[in-house]
Amino acid sequence: MTNMDFYNIAKKATRGTMFFTIASLALSLVQCTSKHQVTTSVAANNPDKGLKDYYKNYFPIGVAVSMASLHGSDSALIVKEFNSVTPENDMKMGPIHPSENVYNWKNADAIVDFAVSHQIRIRGHNLCWHNQEAAWMFKGPNGEPVTKELLLQRLKDHIFAVAGRYKGKIYAWDVVNEAVDDSDDTTQVYRKSNWYKICNGPDFIDSAFKYAHQADPNAKLYYNDYNSEHPVKREKIYKLLKKLIDDHAPIDGVGMQAHWKLNDPSPEELRKALDEVTSLGLKVQFTEMDITIRLPKPPPALGTMPAPTPVPDSGYTAQAEARQIAQYKMAFDIIRQYRKYITNVTFWNVSDRSSWLDGRGGGLLGGAAAGVNTPRVIRKAYPLLFDENRQRKKAYWAVVNF
Ligand code: G3I
Repeated sequence: MTNMDFYNIAKKATRGTMFFTIASLALSLVQCTSKHQVTTSVAANNPDKGLKDYYKNYFPIGVAVSMASLHGSDSALIVKEFNSVTPENDMKMGPIHPSENVYNWKNADAIVDFAVSHQIRIRGHNLCWHNQEAAWMFKGPNGEPVTKELLLQRLKDHIFAVAGRYKGKIYAWDVVNEAVDDSDDTTQVYRKSNWYKICNGPDFIDSAFKYAHQADPNAKLYYNDYNSEHPVKREKIYKLLKKLIDDHAPIDGVGMQAHWKLNDPSPEELRKALDEVTSLGLKVQFTEMDITIRLPKPPPALGTMPAPTPVPDSGYTAQAEARQIAQYKMAFDIIRQYRKYITNVTFWNVSDRSSWLDGRGGGLLGGAAAGVNTPRVIRKAYPLLFDENRQRKKAYWAVVNF
């Protein structure tokens, strides 16, 4: 008998206020107890349930992986909690195709084999980017700058080789990554990358999608970018997407990377970004989610400035934890409401033990954005749902208890 049955019977059985009051009090106690029990049982009595199980009626939950993730405790956590993986670096143009006739398949194959053997879906990342690019592609046969025609031919050969190799195994590709300008100049839609400059405009983006579709007609093709909720960049991404659609490029959706902060994005910005891209008929994947507790401090002016004195890491304080829990809860409450448009939510790295944000190869700002020679002041970001011991943080429960 459901609580509502009990309530209806109680209401019909008598018109007496006393009984009705007692009945409704009893009902609220039953509801409260059963709700509490349900919540508790969901939280504590299902040690085998992982993120993917809590969200099995919503969308896949993924994670970015490296070769190091495939062994030991990380791999056990991946298999338990996730049903999608993205190679963090091993399928990027430079790592996988370091020179014209050399492909490094080993790591990418290992990640694909791991995923296939555990029935985990795979997102490919990425087929065209201005960072970690294959530098050789931009040099002509005699070292002169490459022509647009030769560069696009090389891009086609690269995409045919990589997307072709994993045809039928990789279900979604980040075809082009971060091609939109980051400045507040609303007249500058596109990043002036080598791709843009040599192709004299953005049609390399259309070409990349065309080649990816030819290489694997069944793969879902995404444009991927960060800060997609910031109003200026949101409008630039919208213009890029609208142009691709108007050009009849074979695009399926947009990847919102979701490298977020404790106060960014706001719920309003997140909703606005989702409303805009879904109004184009596109699907959405959150492709690189993490929520840093750190508000990056800009590195000091270079030149005569003294090396920065290390800022002590304030650590994962109770206040930072509370704000991170609230931001993760806000985000997932909204994301679940857009479930019919959202086809994947992927976290960038497995746990706080090894986040790209913690100065791996980077400096003041952490991450790879800074050069390896930048003075390193490691202030941990604690950005994920699993702590440095791979244990579920309170934010995990804020995401799964709904
Ligand atoms: O593999 C080399 C190693 O041989 C060398 O000794 C070492 C020292 O320089 O560098 C290693 O390569 C590093 C690579 O990560 C693998 O660890 C690069 O320097 C480093 O720049 C690179 O950083 C990656 C960054 O992208 C730049 O490509 C991060 O791990 C990765 O998390 C990050 O991911 C990007 C997404 O692809 C796109 N969206 C933004 C996101 C964060 O920047």
